[in-house]
Amino acid sequence: MTLEIKNTPIKPAIPANAPIGVFDSGVGGISVLQHIHALLPYEHLLYVADSRYAPYGGKTPQEIQSRCFEITDFLIAKGAKAIVVACNTATAAAIDRMRAKYSLPIIGMEPAVKPAAAASKNGVIGVLATVGTLKSAQFAGLLESYGRNVKVVTQGCTGLVECIERGELADEATRNLLQKYCKPLLDEGADTIVLGCTHYPFVAPLITQVVGEGVALIDTGAAVAKQLQKRLSALDLLAWPDQAGKVRFWTNSPSANAKPVIEALWGGDAEVLAF
Ligand code: DGL
Repeated sequence: MTLEIKNTPIKPAIPANAPIGVFDSGVGGISVLQHIHALLPYEHLLYVADSRYAPYGGKTPQEIQSRCFEITDFLIAKGAKAIVVACNTATAAAIDRMRAKYSLPIIGMEPAVKPAAAASKNGVIGVLATVGTLKSAQFAGLLESYGRNVKVVTQGCTGLVECIERGELADEATRNLLQKYCKPLLDEGADTIVLGCTHYPFVAPLITQVVGEGVALIDTGAAVAKQLQKRLSALDLLAWPDQAGKVRFWTNSPSANAKPVIEALWGGDAEVLAF
Protein backbone atom coordinates (compact mmCIF):
# COMPACT_ATOMS: atom_id res chain seq x y z
CA MET A 1 0.00 0.00 0.00
CA THR A 2 1.35 3.47 -0.88
CA LEU A 3 0.72 6.53 1.21
CA GLU A 4 -0.29 9.59 -0.72
CA ILE A 5 0.81 12.91 0.71
CA LYS A 6 -1.29 15.73 -0.60
CA ASN A 7 0.65 18.75 -1.84
CA THR A 8 -1.12 21.36 0.32
CA PRO A 9 0.75 24.68 0.46
CA ILE A 10 1.61 25.52 4.04
CA LYS A 11 1.32 29.21 4.91
CA PRO A 12 4.34 30.22 6.99
CA ALA A 13 3.18 31.58 10.36
CA ILE A 14 4.15 35.21 10.98
CA PRO A 15 5.91 35.49 14.34
CA ALA A 16 4.16 37.83 16.78
CA ASN A 17 7.44 39.59 17.50
CA ALA A 18 7.88 40.54 13.83
CA PRO A 19 7.95 44.32 13.25
CA ILE A 20 5.13 46.57 12.07
CA GLY A 21 5.83 48.64 8.94
CA VAL A 22 4.62 52.24 8.94
CA PHE A 23 5.05 54.73 6.12
CA ASP A 24 4.10 58.15 4.80
CA SER A 25 5.07 60.42 1.92
CA GLY A 26 7.57 61.90 4.37
CA VAL A 27 7.95 62.69 8.04
CA GLY A 28 4.24 63.37 8.74
CA GLY A 29 3.42 59.78 9.66
CA ILE A 30 5.78 60.11 12.64
CA SER A 31 2.77 61.77 14.32
CA VAL A 32 0.97 58.41 13.96
CA LEU A 33 4.08 56.40 14.88
CA GLN A 34 4.18 58.23 18.23
CA HIS A 35 0.64 57.08 19.04
CA ILE A 36 1.46 53.51 17.97
CA HIS A 37 4.62 53.42 20.10
CA ALA A 38 2.77 54.86 23.13
CA LEU A 39 -0.08 52.34 22.87
CA LEU A 40 2.02 49.32 21.82
CA PRO A 41 5.44 49.84 23.47
CA TYR A 42 6.53 46.20 22.91
CA GLU A 43 6.12 46.34 19.14
CA HIS A 44 9.16 46.77 16.90
CA LEU A 45 8.42 49.53 14.40
CA LEU A 46 9.92 50.21 10.97
CA TYR A 47 9.16 53.66 9.57
CA VAL A 48 9.73 54.73 5.96
CA ALA A 49 9.66 58.44 5.08
CA ASP A 50 9.31 58.67 1.30
CA SER A 51 10.48 62.28 1.45
CA ARG A 52 12.16 62.34 -1.98
CA TYR A 53 8.65 61.87 -3.42
CA ALA A 54 6.79 64.23 -1.02
CA PRO A 55 4.32 65.72 -1.32
CA TYR A 56 1.93 63.02 -2.51
CA GLY A 57 -0.91 65.59 -2.47
CA GLY A 58 -0.44 66.71 -6.08
CA LYS A 59 0.39 63.27 -7.55
CA THR A 60 -1.94 61.00 -9.54
CA PRO A 61 -3.43 57.94 -7.79
CA GLN A 62 -1.31 55.72 -10.10
CA GLU A 63 1.91 57.47 -9.05
CA ILE A 64 0.97 57.14 -5.38
CA GLN A 65 0.04 53.46 -5.79
CA SER A 66 3.42 52.69 -7.29
CA ARG A 67 5.20 54.42 -4.37
CA CYS A 68 3.04 52.45 -1.89
CA PHE A 69 3.88 49.14 -3.60
CA GLU A 70 7.62 49.84 -3.57
CA ILE A 71 7.60 50.78 0.12
CA THR A 72 5.37 47.87 1.12
CA ASP A 73 7.64 45.41 -0.72
CA PHE A 74 10.59 46.89 1.20
CA LEU A 75 8.81 46.59 4.56
CA ILE A 76 7.72 43.02 3.84
CA ALA A 77 11.31 42.14 2.90
CA LYS A 78 12.28 43.51 6.35
CA GLY A 79 9.82 41.05 7.90
CA ALA A 80 6.78 43.28 8.57
CA LYS A 81 3.73 41.46 9.99
CA ALA A 82 1.38 44.40 9.26
CA ILE A 83 1.48 47.70 7.39
CA VAL A 84 0.15 51.05 8.57
CA VAL A 85 -0.40 53.61 5.81
CA ALA A 86 0.21 56.67 7.99
CA CYS A 87 -0.96 59.00 5.26
CA ASN A 88 -4.49 60.11 4.39
CA THR A 89 -3.54 60.85 0.77
CA ALA A 90 -1.96 57.43 0.17
CA THR A 91 -4.85 55.66 1.90
CA ALA A 92 -7.35 57.38 -0.40
CA ALA A 93 -5.30 56.65 -3.52
CA ALA A 94 -3.96 53.19 -2.87
CA ILE A 95 -5.38 51.18 0.03
CA ASP A 96 -7.86 49.17 -2.06
CA ARG A 97 -5.09 48.18 -4.50
CA MET A 98 -2.75 47.35 -1.63
CA ARG A 99 -5.31 45.12 0.05
CA ALA A 100 -5.92 43.33 -3.24
CA LYS A 101 -2.18 42.78 -3.77
CA TYR A 102 -0.95 41.82 -0.28
CA SER A 103 -2.30 39.33 2.24
CA LEU A 104 -0.94 40.90 5.45
CA PRO A 105 -3.11 43.29 7.52
CA ILE A 106 -3.07 46.83 6.13
CA ILE A 107 -4.37 49.67 8.30
CA GLY A 108 -5.15 53.01 6.68
CA MET A 109 -6.54 56.34 7.80
CA GLU A 110 -9.01 59.00 6.76
CA PRO A 111 -9.81 62.54 7.91
CA ALA A 112 -11.79 62.48 11.18
CA VAL A 113 -15.02 63.92 9.75
CA LYS A 114 -17.19 61.58 11.84
CA PRO A 115 -15.73 62.50 15.27
CA ALA A 116 -15.56 66.17 14.29
CA ALA A 117 -19.22 66.21 13.28
CA ALA A 118 -20.07 64.62 16.64
CA ALA A 119 -17.88 67.07 18.60
CA SER A 120 -18.94 70.31 16.91
CA LYS A 121 -21.28 72.46 19.01
CA ASN A 122 -22.36 74.84 16.25
CA GLY A 123 -22.49 72.29 13.40
CA VAL A 124 -19.70 73.88 11.34
CA ILE A 125 -16.50 71.88 10.86
CA GLY A 126 -13.38 72.65 8.86
CA VAL A 127 -11.13 70.10 7.17
CA LEU A 128 -7.49 70.89 6.39
CA ALA A 129 -6.03 68.25 4.06
CA THR A 130 -4.07 67.76 0.86
CA VAL A 131 -5.74 68.50 -2.46
CA GLY A 132 -5.38 64.80 -3.33
CA THR A 133 -7.34 63.70 -0.24
CA LEU A 134 -10.07 66.30 -0.76
CA LYS A 135 -10.73 65.32 -4.35
CA SER A 136 -10.69 61.55 -3.71
CA ALA A 137 -13.74 59.31 -3.97
CA GLN A 138 -13.07 58.13 -0.40
CA PHE A 139 -13.42 61.67 0.94
CA ALA A 140 -16.65 62.18 -1.05
CA GLY A 141 -17.91 58.97 0.59
CA LEU A 142 -16.95 60.26 4.05
CA LEU A 143 -18.91 63.48 3.50
CA GLU A 144 -21.85 61.50 2.22
CA SER A 145 -21.84 59.27 5.32
CA TYR A 146 -20.97 61.71 8.10
CA GLY A 147 -21.15 65.24 6.75
CA ARG A 148 -24.87 65.44 6.05
CA ASN A 149 -25.97 67.12 9.25
CA VAL A 150 -23.12 69.58 9.54
CA LYS A 151 -21.63 72.25 7.33
CA VAL A 152 -18.19 71.07 6.16
CA VAL A 153 -15.69 73.67 4.95
CA THR A 154 -12.70 72.08 3.23
CA GLN A 155 -9.34 73.64 2.50
CA GLY A 156 -6.44 72.13 0.55
CA CYS A 157 -3.11 73.21 2.06
CA THR A 158 -0.64 73.27 -0.84
CA GLY A 159 2.90 74.00 0.38
CA LEU A 160 2.32 73.17 4.05
CA VAL A 161 3.75 69.63 3.88
CA GLU A 162 6.96 71.06 2.39
CA CYS A 163 7.37 73.45 5.37
CA ILE A 164 6.98 70.55 7.81
CA GLU A 165 9.38 68.36 5.80
CA ARG A 166 11.98 71.11 6.29
CA GLY A 167 11.24 71.13 10.02
CA GLU A 168 9.86 74.69 9.89
CA LEU A 169 7.23 74.20 12.58
CA ALA A 170 7.12 77.74 13.95
CA ASP A 171 8.50 79.86 11.10
CA GLU A 172 6.87 83.00 9.74
CA ALA A 173 6.30 81.43 6.29
CA THR A 174 4.49 78.48 7.89
CA ARG A 175 2.37 80.84 10.01
CA ASN A 176 1.46 82.89 6.91
CA LEU A 177 0.34 79.78 5.05
CA LEU A 178 -1.75 78.67 8.03
CA GLN A 179 -3.34 82.10 8.32
CA LYS A 180 -4.30 81.93 4.64
CA TYR A 181 -5.69 78.38 4.88
CA CYS A 182 -7.54 78.78 8.20
CA LYS A 183 -9.23 82.04 7.26
CA PRO A 184 -12.00 80.52 5.08
CA LEU A 185 -12.77 78.04 7.90
CA LEU A 186 -12.96 80.80 10.50
CA ASP A 187 -15.03 83.02 8.16
CA GLU A 188 -17.62 80.23 8.02
CA GLY A 189 -17.55 79.91 11.82
CA ALA A 190 -15.95 76.45 12.17
CA ASP A 191 -15.62 75.50 15.85
CA THR A 192 -13.84 72.21 15.09
CA ILE A 193 -11.01 71.60 12.62
CA VAL A 194 -9.96 68.19 11.32
CA LEU A 195 -6.22 67.79 10.76
CA GLY A 196 -6.68 65.63 7.66
CA CYS A 197 -3.00 65.09 6.89
CA THR A 198 -0.54 63.37 9.21
CA HIS A 199 1.99 66.19 8.82
CA TYR A 200 -0.36 68.78 10.35
CA PRO A 201 -0.33 67.65 14.03
CA PHE A 202 3.27 68.91 14.09
CA VAL A 203 2.01 72.46 13.52
CA ALA A 204 -1.02 72.10 15.83
CA PRO A 205 0.42 74.67 18.31
CA LEU A 206 0.79 77.18 15.46
CA ILE A 207 -2.72 76.41 14.18
CA THR A 208 -4.10 77.05 17.68
CA GLN A 209 -2.28 80.40 17.76
CA VAL A 210 -3.92 81.27 14.44
CA VAL A 211 -7.48 80.03 15.11
CA GLY A 212 -7.64 80.58 18.87
CA GLU A 213 -8.03 78.22 21.85
CA GLY A 214 -11.79 78.00 21.36
CA VAL A 215 -11.48 75.95 18.15
CA ALA A 216 -10.97 72.20 18.70
CA LEU A 217 -8.38 70.40 16.55
CA ILE A 218 -9.01 66.74 15.77
CA ASP A 219 -6.26 64.32 14.78
CA THR A 220 -6.62 60.65 13.82
CA GLY A 221 -3.33 59.18 15.11
CA ALA A 222 -4.72 57.72 18.35
CA ALA A 223 -7.65 56.08 16.54
CA VAL A 224 -5.27 54.47 14.02
CA ALA A 225 -3.13 53.05 16.83
CA LYS A 226 -6.25 51.57 18.49
CA GLN A 227 -7.43 50.07 15.21
CA LEU A 228 -3.98 48.49 14.71
CA GLN A 229 -4.09 47.03 18.23
CA LYS A 230 -7.54 45.57 17.54
CA ARG A 231 -6.47 43.95 14.25
CA LEU A 232 -3.27 42.47 15.70
CA SER A 233 -5.09 41.18 18.74
CA ALA A 234 -7.79 39.51 16.60
CA LEU A 235 -5.04 37.77 14.59
CA ASP A 236 -3.08 36.82 17.71
CA LEU A 237 -0.19 38.91 16.41
CA LEU A 238 0.46 41.28 19.32
CA ALA A 239 4.12 41.18 20.42
CA TRP A 240 4.93 39.42 23.67
CA PRO A 241 5.61 41.98 26.42
CA ASP A 242 9.12 40.65 27.01
CA GLN A 243 11.22 43.50 25.65
CA ALA A 244 10.87 47.16 24.66
CA GLY A 245 10.01 47.68 21.00
CA LYS A 246 12.80 48.99 18.78
CA VAL A 247 12.00 51.81 16.36
CA ARG A 248 14.00 52.27 13.15
CA PHE A 249 13.63 54.90 10.44
CA TRP A 250 14.45 54.90 6.71
CA THR A 251 14.40 57.98 4.51
CA ASN A 252 15.21 58.77 0.89
CA SER A 253 15.33 62.51 1.60
CA PRO A 254 18.09 64.29 -0.33
CA SER A 255 18.33 66.87 2.48
CA ALA A 256 21.35 66.94 4.81
CA ASN A 257 18.87 67.79 7.59
CA ALA A 258 16.81 64.61 7.23
CA LYS A 259 18.09 62.98 10.45
CA PRO A 260 17.79 66.12 12.66
CA VAL A 261 14.26 66.75 11.37
CA ILE A 262 13.23 63.14 12.07
CA GLU A 263 14.77 63.32 15.56
CA ALA A 264 13.09 66.65 16.30
CA LEU A 265 9.67 65.31 15.28
CA TRP A 266 10.15 61.94 16.97
CA GLY A 267 11.37 63.67 20.10
CA GLY A 268 14.66 61.87 20.67
CA ASP A 269 17.62 60.06 19.15
CA ALA A 270 16.70 57.94 16.17
CA GLU A 271 18.42 55.32 14.04
CA VAL A 272 17.98 56.73 10.52
CA LEU A 273 18.99 54.65 7.51
CA ALA A 274 18.95 55.31 3.76
CA PHE A 275 15.99 53.95 1.78
N1 DGL B 1 1.03 63.07 5.35
C1 DGL B 1 0.21 62.98 4.23
C2 DGL B 1 -1.26 62.81 4.46
O1 DGL B 1 -1.64 62.41 5.52
C3 DGL B 1 0.66 63.30 2.88
C4 DGL B 1 0.93 64.66 2.53
C5 DGL B 1 1.51 64.79 1.15
O2 DGL B 1 2.51 64.16 0.89
O3 DGL B 1 0.95 65.54 0.35
O4 DGL B 1 -2.06 63.06 3.62
